[in-house]
Amino acid sequence: MRLLITGGAGFIGTNFAYHVLEHHPEDSVIVFDKLTYAGNLENLKQLEQNPRFAFVKGDICDVEIVNDIVKKVDAVVHFAAESHVDRSIDDPMSFVRTNVLGTQTLLDACRKNAYIRFHHVSTDEVFGSLGRHGMFRENTAYDPRSPYSASKASSDHLVRAAFHTYKLPITISNCSNNYGPYCFPEKFIPLAITNILEGKKIPIYGDGMNIRDWLYVEDHCYGIYAALVHGRMGETYCFGGRAERANIELAEIILFEMGARIDMLQFVKDRPGHDARYAIDFRKAEDELGWHPAVPFLHGIRRTIEWYKNNREWWTRIKNGSYTQYYESQYGLGGANEPV
Ligand code: NAD
Ligand code: DAU
Repeated sequence: MRLLITGGAGFIGTNFAYHVLEHHPEDSVIVFDKLTYAGNLENLKQLEQNPRFAFVKGDICDVEIVNDIVKKVDAVVHFAAESHVDRSIDDPMSFVRTNVLGTQTLLDACRKNAYIRFHHVSTDEVFGSLGRHGMFRENTAYDPRSPYSASKASSDHLVRAAFHTYKLPITISNCSNNYGPYCFPEKFIPLAITNILEGKKIPIYGDGMNIRDWLYVEDHCYGIYAALVHGRMGETYCFGGRAERANIELAEIILFEMGARIDMLQFVKDRPGHDARYAIDFRKAEDELGWHPAVPFLHGIRRTIEWYKNNREWWTRIKNGSYTQYYESQYGLGGANEPV
């Protein structure tokens, strides 16, 4: 199969490109990416000489280039997005542009070019925020609460509409929080690990009691490929890690694993509209795709810490560049938020 991976120079897309080329020798991959602040060609360096790999720089909102590139593949796996909730609070429009208009541009191109198979990578945040009990599953009502999740919810609806209206062969996956190699150090886990390696504190939003369900990125890649090959057309599959942790608990685990002091936590002002809890019931993926998370949480965290220790140049360059400028413009501290 010839795959187009949009957003393949970002965190999960990079991991997926490596996953496909390693585990599916009959497949080839074109990564299509705009290289925004979150896209990094350095991620794909080890694939440069691989004859089954190609990179094309481009914007998923560009109708012409998107039309041309989908002609070259059998399936699109769509990761490209503005993905960071905090940034969506400051600049919702760029999220609407890429996540909504960009997704529709891809859907139109797939429909007009032989009804190319389309898998849409989405998030559990479209379902809103859970209380202490319950879990998200495929038939949970949509209730997005941030500009990011609202833009992803819109894109999910457009993908489903393409199936119902035009019979475009689509599947959707909604996944919980990912962690692992190549994750941009504005997200909580890599921010925490790299801050500790720099001798800085971990910023904890609010009281630190918000809960996320963490999935090791490699498990997510297995799930996406299974949905692409074995998923029923028009269906949604939820993936989760069965690893719910309050942020404060997660930060303490990272401190412990890195041998850092407990006072390396700093409570900072909360994220506006901060969702309380995410958790996933992934029984449908288990039953229909034979998928379940395989990497135990502590194992995944240790592997992730090792990766950031061994790839200091990668994240140092990022933190010294656009990331730092962004945080300085927001908080004036270059990487850590104002203490409350
Ligand atoms: P990321 O921010 O690390 O990477 C996004 C990539 O998309 C970057 O390489 C960027 O350059 C590219 N991109 C952005 N706008 C583009 C455009 N207009 N045209 C072409 N390329 C563009 O994101 P990620 O964390 O790897 O997430 C990938 C996908 O998975 C997203 O759709 C996100 O909503 C979804 N998702 C992420 C998580 C998570 O925990 N990170 C969990 C569930 C779902
Ligand atoms: O649930 C899936 C989603 O997970 C994906 O769709 C998003 O693309 C991805 O960014 C992620 O969203 P979150 O907002 O949950 O991830 P983030 O890493 O930004 O934050 C995780 C939790 O940690 C959240 O409760 C906010 C908190 N946090 C985050 C940062 C950056 C802090 O306490 N301090 C911080 O400095």
